[in-house]
Amino acid sequence: MNSPLLLLQPAKTLPKLPDSPHYWMPLDASVTAADIDWLYMFMVWGSVIFAAGIFAAMVYFCTKFRATSREANEQSEPSSEHNTALEIGWSVIPLLICIALFVWGFQGFVNLRTPPKGAFEVHVTGQKWKWLFDYKHGTEDKLHVPVDRDVRLVLQSADVLHSFFIPNFRVKMDAVPGRYTDLWFHATQAGEFPVFCAEYCGTSHSDMLTTVVVHEPGGYEKWVKEMITIQESKPLPELGRDVYDKQGCSTCHSIDGTPRIGPTWKGLFGKTESFVGGGSGVVDENYIRESITDPTAKIVNGFPPSMPTYQGKLSDRQLSGVIEYIKTLK
Ligand code: CUA
Repeated sequence: MNSPLLLLQPAKTLPKLPDSPHYWMPLDASVTAADIDWLYMFMVWGSVIFAAGIFAAMVYFCTKFRATSREANEQSEPSSEHNTALEIGWSVIPLLICIALFVWGFQGFVNLRTPPKGAFEVHVTGQKWKWLFDYKHGTEDKLHVPVDRDVRLVLQSADVLHSFFIPNFRVKMDAVPGRYTDLWFHATQAGEFPVFCAEYCGTSHSDMLTTVVVHEPGGYEKWVKEMITIQESKPLPELGRDVYDKQGCSTCHSIDGTPRIGPTWKGLFGKTESFVGGGSGVVDENYIRESITDPTAKIVNGFPPSMPTYQGKLSDRQLSGVIEYIKTLK
């Protein structure tokens, strides 16, 4: 197995968030974002005002009631025992503020956890180190959604914990292996917004980036049509190259002979591989197809069994595309 250090690649430059009218918050581009920001600002400024008041009072009292000598301090009588109105005031007012904060926060939480009925749904899979999105026409590496519509994402993970985070929509949800989680949003403006993985998930966690493309009205349908045309008409090796770039193959398989988590695709076709548990075989069309749809059937010696299956995620034409693409990498 390769040393983990070999797998370290320089992080891509961080995607730039769209320009924001706010001082320290990113642009808010979903229906729930403004409310979340208000709550956040209320907490921050409430804390700042209270902290400033408490510090000012401390400094004032320290100065005003400072004893001039030890005797003066020992002889001084407290000017009052207590002040009921003051004590009730400083207990009840913060309590009311905390109750308001709780109600406000809980309403927001329930709202974010309750996807509206009839939402547009997309299945999302997190895997080391890529986000994949399932549409009716196939799988893509970017999230495409229509503007001004409720969108529900159904999240899952193919390996470890990931977390799907769109800062501009103020939504984030863990992707957990073996179960589904969901989140919803309603984009208020068309454009492209970056998506991050917000759960440390291994070597290339910081590269687990993608984009949500919010289409103008009618744009989403147009995009789907384009994708279908491309899949049906692109020459096979080019289609295979697309799959390589978009489906996460490049994370583990190089095309220039560099060792990564899986065997390089360069010079792969026609090679004889030896397998874990004995036996060997020549890499031909059927071997590649099996390796993609049932990756653990034959594990090449020296590599971990870490590839997720692509059964059902790639069309027959895409599978043939990958095979023809590998053939071109001599
Ligand atoms: Cu996936 Cu961090």
